[in-house]
Amino acid sequence: MAKFDFSKRDSFGSRIGVIAATAGSVIGLGNIWRFPYIAGENGGGAFLIVYLLFIAAIGIPVMLSEIIIGRKGQRNAYGSFKKLKPNQPWYLIGLIGIAGAFFVLAYYSTIAGWTLEYLYQSLANGFSGKGTSELGEMFNSFQKGGLMPVIWQVIFMGLTAWIVFHGIRHGIEKYAKILMPMLLVLIIVICIRSITLPGAGEGLRFFFTADFSKITPDVIIQALGQAAFSLSIGMGTMITFGSYISKKDNLPNIAYTVTASDTLIAVLAGIAIFPAVFAFGIDPAEGEALIFITLPNIFQQMAGGYFWALMFFILLVIAALTSTISLLEVVVAFCSEELNIGRKTATVVVASVITFIGVFCTLSQGPLDNLAIGDKNLFSIVDYSVANIFLPVGAFFIVIFTGWFMGRKDVRDELSNQGTFKAKFFWLFMTLVRFFAPIALATVFLYQLDILKF
Ligand code: PHE
Repeated sequence: MAKFDFSKRDSFGSRIGVIAATAGSVIGLGNIWRFPYIAGENGGGAFLIVYLLFIAAIGIPVMLSEIIIGRKGQRNAYGSFKKLKPNQPWYLIGLIGIAGAFFVLAYYSTIAGWTLEYLYQSLANGFSGKGTSELGEMFNSFQKGGLMPVIWQVIFMGLTAWIVFHGIRHGIEKYAKILMPMLLVLIIVICIRSITLPGAGEGLRFFFTADFSKITPDVIIQALGQAAFSLSIGMGTMITFGSYISKKDNLPNIAYTVTASDTLIAVLAGIAIFPAVFAFGIDPAEGEALIFITLPNIFQQMAGGYFWALMFFILLVIAALTSTISLLEVVVAFCSEELNIGRKTATVVVASVITFIGVFCTLSQGPLDNLAIGDKNLFSIVDYSVANIFLPVGAFFIVIFTGWFMGRKDVRDELSNQGTFKAKFFWLFMTLVRFFAPIALATVFLYQLDILKF
C-alpha cells in the first residue's frame, strides 16, 4: 500500500482558525458538565482554588509542551515522538495518549448523547412545569432506560465521524469560529438569571469562598484530573493539533488564549450552576446529573425560557462535537499516517469500534449495571481513570520530555519561532516543566496509588 505522503498533510488556514479549533477541542462537556459536578462533590471554593493553581502551574506548561512537540514533529502523537527521538521509546507516550483518546471518546460520547436528548426535550418543551424532583426523575429514567441513551450516542458518533471524514480545515475550523463565542454569550445570560434567583447568594458563597480545611488529598487529585481533562492535555490531542499549526504562529499566545478561554467558560459554568443549585434545593454533590437537573430549572425561570434552553442545548451539543472531533482526529491521524490506512476508511473503522465500546459505558448505567467494580460502574471507572490516571501520567512524561530530553535550544526555537520574537518567561517555563510540574504530577499520582502517604 502507498505510504502516507507527509507533504500533503493538512494544516490550519489562519491564526484565528487555530485558536478556534483548539479552543473547540478544549472547551466542551469538561467545562460545562464535568467541572460543576466535580467542584460540587469536592467542596466548591476549596476545589476552585486548587484547580486554578493547577491550570496555571501545570496546565499551561503541559499544553505548551505538547504544542511544541507537535509543531516540531509535524506528525501525529506517536509519529512526532518517533521523529524527534527516533531511537528512544518515547513514542510509547504517544501510543498511550492515542489509547487515552480512544477511551475518552468511548465514554464522552455517552454524555454527548445525553446532550442530544436534552436538546430534543427542549425542542419538545419537555421541561415545562417540572420541579426539581421531577427533573431528577426525568434524567434518571432516561439514563436507566438504556435504549435512548444508546441511540443518541450512536447518532452523536455518526455526526463526529461525518465531520472528521471531511478533513481538518473544512471540517473543524468552519464550525468552531462562530459557535464558541456564541456559547460564551449564552452562558453569561444564564449566569445573570442564576445569580438573580432568590437564594442565589448561598451558591456564590459555596463556589467562591474557600474553606481550606476542605482541601484534602482527594480534592487535589480531582482538581488535577479536571484541569488535565478540561485542557485536553496529557494524551496527544494538543500534539496532534500542534502539528497542524503553521511555523509562523506564536505558540505561547495560542496556549494562553486557549487556556484563558477554557478557564473562563468553566468558571462561568460554575457561576451559572451553583446559585441555581442552592436556589432550587439541589444537592451540589448530586454527581453526573447535576447540570441536567439544574439547567432546566433555570430555564423555566427565564422569560423566553423555551428559546434559551433550545439555544443553549444546540450550543452545548456543538461544544461537545468540537471536542469529540478532536478526540477522533487523534486516533485517525495515527491510523492514516502510521498504519497507512486511508483517512476515510480509518475514520469509519475507528469511529465504529469506539462506538461499540462506548455503548457498554452507556449501558453500564442502566440495564448492564453489573458491569461494575464495587460501587463504580464501567462509565465511572473510565471517567475516573482517564482523568485521574491516564492524563496525569501522560502529562508527566510529556513535561519530562520537553524539560530534559528535547534540548533547550529546540524548545526555545519553537517558543520564539527561531528567535523571530523574544520567548518571554522562558526561564519560568523551563523551571515549571523541569521541576515543578513533574514533581507535582508524580506526587499526586503516587499518593493516589497509596505509594506515598501523608
Ligand atoms: N477538554 C475536553 C472538554 O473539556 C475533553 C477532552 C479531553 C478533549 C481530552 C480532548 C482530549 O470537554
